[in-house]
Amino acid sequence: MDAELERRWERDGFLVVPDFVDAATCATLKDQANALVAAHAPTTVSVFSTNEQTRTSDDYFLESGDKISFFYEEEAASGKAGAANPFNKIGHALHTLDPVFAPFSQRSAHLELVRSLGLARPALVQSMYIFKNAFIGGDVSCHQDATFLHTTPLSVVGLWFALEDATIENGCMWALPGGHRGPLRKRFARAPAGGTVMHILDETPYPPVATAAPWVPLEAKAGTMVLLHGLLPHFSCANRSARSRHAYALHYVDDAAEWTRDNWLRR
Ligand code: FE2
Repeated sequence: MDAELERRWERDGFLVVPDFVDAATCATLKDQANALVAAHAPTTVSVFSTNEQTRTSDDYFLESGDKISFFYEEEAASGKAGAANPFNKIGHALHTLDPVFAPFSQRSAHLELVRSLGLARPALVQSMYIFKNAFIGGDVSCHQDATFLHTTPLSVVGLWFALEDATIENGCMWALPGGHRGPLRKRFARAPAGGTVMHILDETPYPPVATAAPWVPLEAKAGTMVLLHGLLPHFSCANRSARSRHAYALHYVDDAAEWTRDNWLRR
């Protein structure tokens, strides 16, 4: 990475890199995601409608680290939308299991990039295909990725690829420039008795979360890569527009750091 990019990464905690993925590759990844959806026979349905089903959904989530699992949009699950694609995302092991996503995910260019950010022994631990479908795409509340993938010292880095244009209208990410210099607020962990728990680590508030300064929209044309520091606060709004906002995300940690044993993701 050149000195100017490095300076911006240090300053902001994110980098937006246009034209990182060519159009043909974006199309191939989208086609594969659509094919996975078309072939998917749902076994866990209406996951948001009752407590029992929420528990089932939790188990489905907790067991998804080494699988290709499908997660519904809340509004699709509650029957508000008869969408052809009712899914919020596919996770969390496309990077190892899927014949199209695996070779893209494991490109050496990604590894070198992550190494240049200071991860001595980068390990690709998680992948997500995010649909953010037209009209029903749900919001993602403000969070830091290190909440979900914890190591000591903290090391998680996200690579997020826009496969379609991400705009303010269709629910692009918003981030707090420099927010990665603040503390980790929360940690999501497996609870000893089963299920999950959110530990509060630091009460330092964020500036009021809003689609306004000091938050900035990370608008991204298809093919853009966005790099996200694990401590960077970010969120995205629901997509009420008529255009979907497909994206693919990879998360790396440093194997030179210690993996926290009660992370939801098992390694
Ligand atoms: Fe995130």
